[in-house]
Amino acid sequence: MIEFKNVTLAYGNHIVLDNVSFTCHFYEKIAVLGGSGGGKTTILKLMLGLVRPDAGQILIDGEDITKFSESELRDPRMKFSIVFQEGALFDSMNVKENVAFSLREYTKSTEEEIEKRVRELLKILKIEGAIDLMPEELSGGMQRRVAIARSLAGCEPKMMLYDEATTGLDPLTADNICNLINELSKGDPPGRVGFIIVTHKVTDAAKVAERYIFIRNGNIIFDGNLVELKMTEDTILKNFINELYVADGMHKR
Ligand SMILES: Nc1ncnc2c1ncn2[C@@H]1O[C@H](COP(=O)(O)OP(=O)(O)OP(=O)(O)O)[C@@H](O)[C@H]1O
Ligand SMILES: [Mg+2]
Repeated sequence: MIEFKNVTLAYGNHIVLDNVSFTCHFYEKIAVLGGSGGGKTTILKLMLGLVRPDAGQILIDGEDITKFSESELRDPRMKFSIVFQEGALFDSMNVKENVAFSLREYTKSTEEEIEKRVRELLKILKIEGAIDLMPEELSGGMQRRVAIARSLAGCEPKMMLYDEATTGLDPLTADNICNLINELSKGDPPGRVGFIIVTHKVTDAAKVAERYIFIRNGNIIFDGNLVELKMTEDTILKNFINELYVADGMHKR
């Protein structure tokens, strides 16, 4: 379970998150929505202990990680995989080395074990044929798949974090990545691996998520399901989700 309790974070006098509280289970399928600079990526970084809040608590399975040392953060971090924004790969490494990175860095796996695990992951992501290619030789969609494979190497996550996994992709490729996100999280609670997809593309979020959290000006202004989201009376939120109606072939509300 993940609990944010009255979390506040500011850079200088710019308040990014203002007394934010929410609770979620690892098996949930969540979309964190909001405009650019709204604090979406920051929420993921706080969850991993990459950034520390100025006030409040962040509990992962009941343990407050806000004061944890780097070595103490290792265990809670292992509960998550993360695909960073734009899925940046190491340009100088081929696909195999990109995916093998965490295995080499954080495990004592032998060369054979690494090769086996990399091939296994590339098979799951349906990009086995790309193992020897360099990132520049891959399409945007393939790059995202490699980034997802890399995030899964070296951990067996209880929850997958995707930061803008579909941003910058054409609609069809984005759709494929959404299908993949759904596939990777298969199973029923409590066996299911949940995810948080951070995005400003509400149509992509709607293909995968069951719970929607909308952030504006450092506050959670909505937390609910898709039906509730579509019924919102908040003007800014309505504008933000209008693309859902376009996608549905319906008129704006
Ligand atoms: N290390 C930092 N130093 C100073 N300001 C920062 C830092 N990291 C983030 N910010 C600021 O905090 C705010 C929230 O950033 P964050 O990256 O969480 O937004 P976001 O919702 O993910 O935006 P986007 O949709 O553009 O990815 C932004 O205004 C950003 O400029
Ligand atoms: Mg971001």
